[in-house]
Amino acid sequence: MAEPHAIYLKDYQPPRYQVEHTELRFDLAPDATRVQATLQIARAPGTASDAALVLDGDHLTLEHVAIDGQPLEPGEFEVTDRALTIYTVPERFRLDTEVVLAPASNTALEGLYQSNGMFCTQCEPEGFRRITFYPDRPDVMATFTTTVIGDQAATPILLANGNPVERGELPDGRHFVTWNDPHPKPAYLFALVAGNLEKIEDQFTTQGGREVTLQIWVEQQNLDKTAFAMTALKHSMRWDEERFGREYDLDLFMIVAVDDFNMGAMENKGLNIFNSSAVLANPDTTVDAMFQRIEGIVAHEYFHNWSGNRVTCRDWFQLALKEGFTVFRDQLFSSDMNSAPVKRIEDVALLRTAQFAEDSGPTAHPVRPDHFIEISNFYTLTVYEKGAEVVRMLCNLLGWETFRKGSDLYFERFDGQAVRVEDFVDCMAEVSNLDLTQFMRWYSQAGTPEVSVDSAYDAERRTFTLTLSQHTPATPGQDEKAPLQIPVEMGLLDEQGADMALVIDGQSHGSSTVLNLDESTKQFVFEDVPHAPVPSLLRGFSAPVKLRQTLTREQLSFLMRHDSDGFNRWDAGQQLALKELETLMAAYRHGDEMVLDEFFVETVRSLVETPASDKAVLAEMLTLPTEAFIAEQQTTVDIDAIHQARRFAIARLGDTLFEAFETLYTQEQSDAAYAPDFDQIAQRSLKNVALAYLCASGREEAFAYARRQFEANANMTDVRAALTQLAHAGDTSIGDPAIRAFGERWAHDPLVMDQWFATQVSRPHEDALERVRFLMAHPAFSIKNPNRVRALIGTFVNQNRVNFHRRDGQGYRLLADVVIELNRLNPEIAARMVLPLTRFKRLDETRRALMLEQLERIKAEPLSRNVYEVVDKALT
Ligand code: PHE
Ligand code: ZN
Repeated sequence: MAEPHAIYLKDYQPPRYQVEHTELRFDLAPDATRVQATLQIARAPGTASDAALVLDGDHLTLEHVAIDGQPLEPGEFEVTDRALTIYTVPERFRLDTEVVLAPASNTALEGLYQSNGMFCTQCEPEGFRRITFYPDRPDVMATFTTTVIGDQAATPILLANGNPVERGELPDGRHFVTWNDPHPKPAYLFALVAGNLEKIEDQFTTQGGREVTLQIWVEQQNLDKTAFAMTALKHSMRWDEERFGREYDLDLFMIVAVDDFNMGAMENKGLNIFNSSAVLANPDTTVDAMFQRIEGIVAHEYFHNWSGNRVTCRDWFQLALKEGFTVFRDQLFSSDMNSAPVKRIEDVALLRTAQFAEDSGPTAHPVRPDHFIEISNFYTLTVYEKGAEVVRMLCNLLGWETFRKGSDLYFERFDGQAVRVEDFVDCMAEVSNLDLTQFMRWYSQAGTPEVSVDSAYDAERRTFTLTLSQHTPATPGQDEKAPLQIPVEMGLLDEQGADMALVIDGQSHGSSTVLNLDESTKQFVFEDVPHAPVPSLLRGFSAPVKLRQTLTREQLSFLMRHDSDGFNRWDAGQQLALKELETLMAAYRHGDEMVLDEFFVETVRSLVETPASDKAVLAEMLTLPTEAFIAEQQTTVDIDAIHQARRFAIARLGDTLFEAFETLYTQEQSDAAYAPDFDQIAQRSLKNVALAYLCASGREEAFAYARRQFEANANMTDVRAALTQLAHAGDTSIGDPAIRAFGERWAHDPLVMDQWFATQVSRPHEDALERVRFLMAHPAFSIKNPNRVRALIGTFVNQNRVNFHRRDGQGYRLLADVVIELNRLNPEIAARMVLPLTRFKRLDETRRALMLEQLERIKAEPLSRNVYEVVDKALT
């Protein structure tokens, strides 16, 4: 196979031909679907009249091609695996093509495929070229008319973008529906669905008075899982009007749930297609965290209608233009709808573990990458989550009102266009009069900046001097880094824990201010400081950086109790716990007995025993830093020490504070009818954190609580929390009956079986790997379904670190086996799954060698471009 080649941002050329209107006709059949395309094409101004027309087409079988009704002769065009080239074309013309596809054998789940018999499409980023010959790039925008023809019995429902304009019956038990989408759009937003579906329907009136019909289409057995998403959709529509002034623009908005789907969901114009796991929910089958995730994803896809669809990306290097902004918008929505501090804590936790890990590994790339081999590999935490942090920094720099003006300007100025990150940032600069030239480096420079802190108090001068320095480590292809503009929000706490008045250069800055760290090193001198303060830095996590600051336990505990910033209170607690865990890890490494520090135990006790003002935050405060987070802090990751220390700390806390946790657990019981609302979720989280500590003690009374909670069967959140505690007990006889009962009860529901898989394979004992192999043969598992793969393999690899990183290398071998199989079936998922094998840099030598061995094994296979790109980066 020829070595795949990279595409560069700097090589961008505008399209030579534009498509003005696209007419598609699908005659659906599992093994031979006919696709006829009629494209109205016009040569772009400035293009030479002899410029060939080159259309993307990924392994398509061409049956017919004609220009203005005239079939082409063999010498007039060329077809390859990747393109259709027509050597000479008129200035304006009609192109007709016909191809034949086999959706039933499409296991990549890109283009047109089948899921449980249902036909559906996934076109972003470059799936449309698997459907028909087309200039498959986001800066070609056309109106679409789509006719879908299908078997009446197998596919009674035929959907596409826009509004239905015509329908009718055809011979041989077939029928058709024609859809028209009046909004010009890139091909990646095209969608079609055909199947035996049922719907729930609702109505929404926009602020401008448009009556919109809302539909959620699912397989019949899932109708009772649609209500929550419908409510979330209506909330999203209202919120986008109120917060961003954005109104919906069609008379119909549809969501379809599909079981086989590579990602969470897709924002196709007027016809969002969702992974069923990202939309279906009810109290019996779905845990609280999932309800919240669904609400966020429904909002995210809906918000794309403006940030992505109306204003789209010029090319795929600009992916963060739509994704970073839209994630920021959905974060803001979720934080308005639920607990704002908890939402921030969760988002930062994800960023600081998974995104920071990406930034320090071989696949590190800027928020706006400058080259790629396979664009599907760039739907990453860096583009999405760091991309959102960059927009958040802009919002904080400008202030909400000005940011909103910039957002309005952006939508007005670029409506109907395909634009670049610069266009967005320029709007923000224009409305604020800020110079954002240096800020743009956040988009082009990869890696996580480290900010180190030095401070000095001068009692005589009554000054407090903060010296902040920044350094971004080298990343592949970027050895030298320029200083970024880092907004450091901060305050100074006095002896009572109150915020001091901040005075710099005789200027008052209130009690919390933003320091602009825009050079390698900068000093900030605070005046009139009566005594040495405790600094609270990076409030609200004001920039996506690693803060290197040495605070004592006393200072951390002080911040944890007094900081006026909720996020920093939580973070101080995490830092304090981290210190404790590091001490335990050192003891473990030296073969000493691990002993939990009294001061730490008492700190936790006071949290458990003091009535909580915010239960949701308390549940977060009581959760120790995850193994992934601890690993991120280490130069050499000691897998075993991290796991043993953390497990020991939890067990000791559970045992020492048993009565306190028991009181908390009992106190937070409730018989209220289940609702996935803020107060109830907070209460359940707190109760289930308490249950986890109780069970960690290993005492039989604790498992009795878990068993009772499991058997009460009140809602999936409580059932699953109890099941997890039982299934993770060292003695398998404690968990086995519950595992069996759960598996039998839910055998008919794949999304619940995913939870059953995940619970078992995250078991922190040595038998976990055998459990994975065993469950891979379970009838409910299928390697072809991405949700099953993520639940069973993904959970094991990412949530069961000690066992994935087993010293005998069996965990790595297992993952490589799976990747090799997936590489043939579904390259996009394969390339995602292989990532943990590329994070070997900071592991011990034995594990590094074992990982490399598996990477070499994968490399020896005939690889898809997706997997090739990732593995090649890792091995270079
Ligand atoms: N654009 C989708 C989103 O962020 C994600 C996606 C990408 C889905 C590629 C499918 C394929 O909402
Ligand atoms: Zn998105």
